[in-house]
Amino acid sequence: TQAPVNVTVTGAAGQIGYALLFRIASGQLLGQDVPVKLRLLEIPQAVKAAEGTAMELEDGAFPLLAGTDIFDDPKQAFEGTNIALLVGARPRSKGMERGDLLEANGGIFKPQGEAINAGAADDIKVLVVGNPANTNALIARSHAPDVPAERFTAMTRLDHNRALAQLAKKLGVPVTELRKVAIWGNHSATQYPSVQHAEFGGKSIADAVDQAWLENDFIPTVAKRGAAIIEARGLSSAASAASAAVDHVYTWVNGTPAGDWTSAAVASDGSYGVPEGLISSFPVTAENGRYKIVQGLEIDDFSRARIDASVAELVEERDTVQKLGLI
Ligand code: NAI
Repeated sequence: TQAPVNVTVTGAAGQIGYALLFRIASGQLLGQDVPVKLRLLEIPQAVKAAEGTAMELEDGAFPLLAGTDIFDDPKQAFEGTNIALLVGARPRSKGMERGDLLEANGGIFKPQGEAINAGAADDIKVLVVGNPANTNALIARSHAPDVPAERFTAMTRLDHNRALAQLAKKLGVPVTELRKVAIWGNHSATQYPSVQHAEFGGKSIADAVDQAWLENDFIPTVAKRGAAIIEARGLSSAASAASAAVDHVYTWVNGTPAGDWTSAAVASDGSYGVPEGLISSFPVTAENGRYKIVQGLEIDDFSRARIDASVAELVEERDTVQKLGLI
C-alpha cells in the first residue's frame, strides 16, 4: 500500500477550510486510491475550533484519511509536507489601505515560505488561496529559494469555473462541451476572463456571442462574482472556493485532458509580455505533475489591453511588497 501524502492546510478552522477538508479526506484532491494525512495550521486562538473540525473528520471514517494533526507553528505544520494549501490570510478591514493589507499578509506568508523552504518534502506543491493570492504567493516563494519557483501557484480556478458556468448558461450547453476558456492576470476585479480561443462543441465561442455581451455582462459578472456572493449570502464564497482548490491540485497532479487547458496563476517565464517571475494567471496545461503556460497563442487587441491592465496591477503589488522589504 502507498504511503500517505502529507497535505498541509492553513486557515483550517475558517470557512473554506471547513468545506475543503472533507473534500480532501474523501479522496477528491489526489484521486480515489491515494491515502492522505492532514496537517492543519491555525493561529493559537483558532486551534480549538480546528480540533472540533478534526473530530468531525474522524467521525467521517474516511477510508483514505490516515490521520489529522493540528499545529500553530508553521515550521512543524510544513515538516515533510507534499502539498500545501495556503488558505489562511489577513482579510481587508474597514479603512485598510492596499499597502497595509499587503504588509499584514507579508507577516503571514514570509514565515510560511521560510518554513516550506526549511522542511517541506522535495516534491512540495504550493497553492495560495488566501488573498491577495498572487502577491501572497510571490512573498512566500521569495522566502523559499531552495524550492523551484514553478511550485508556487495561486488560485484563479474559481474564476475559471465561474467563467465556464456563465458560458454554459448563455450557450445552453453543459460545461463539458466547453474548451479553452482562460483567466489572465490577477485574481482581482481586473482579471481578464477570455473567450478569444474558446470553443463549444468544436465551434468558436467568440463567434457565437456578441462583443457587447462579453464586455458588459460576461467579464464583469465573472470578475465581480465574489462580491455578488457576499451580497447574497452575507459571507464570502467558501464551498465553491474549496471546490476550485481541489480542482487546481487534482489537475496539477493528474493532468489536463488532450485538447483543453485550464487556468492557474503561475510564475511567468516572460510569455505574453508578462514580466518574468510575476505570479499571473495564464491558460495552462498540466502534465507529469507540472503546470505549463500554453505557448504561441495569438492575442488580439482587446485581449492585449485587458491582460496589460491586470498585469500592471500585479506589477504595482509586487513593487509595493518590494518597497516594504517583504520580497
Ligand atoms: P475565514 O476568515 O473564514 O478563515 C481564515 C482562517 O485563517 C481563520 O480561521 C484564521 O484563524 C486563519 N488564519 C489567519 N492567519 C493565519 C495564519 N497566520 N496561519 C494559519 N491560519 C491563519 O476566511 P475564508 O472564507 O476561509 O477565506 C480564506 C481566504 O481565502 C481569504 O483570504 C479569502 O479572501 C480567500 N479567498 C480566495 C479565493 C480565490 O479564488 N483565490 C476565493 C475565496 C476566498
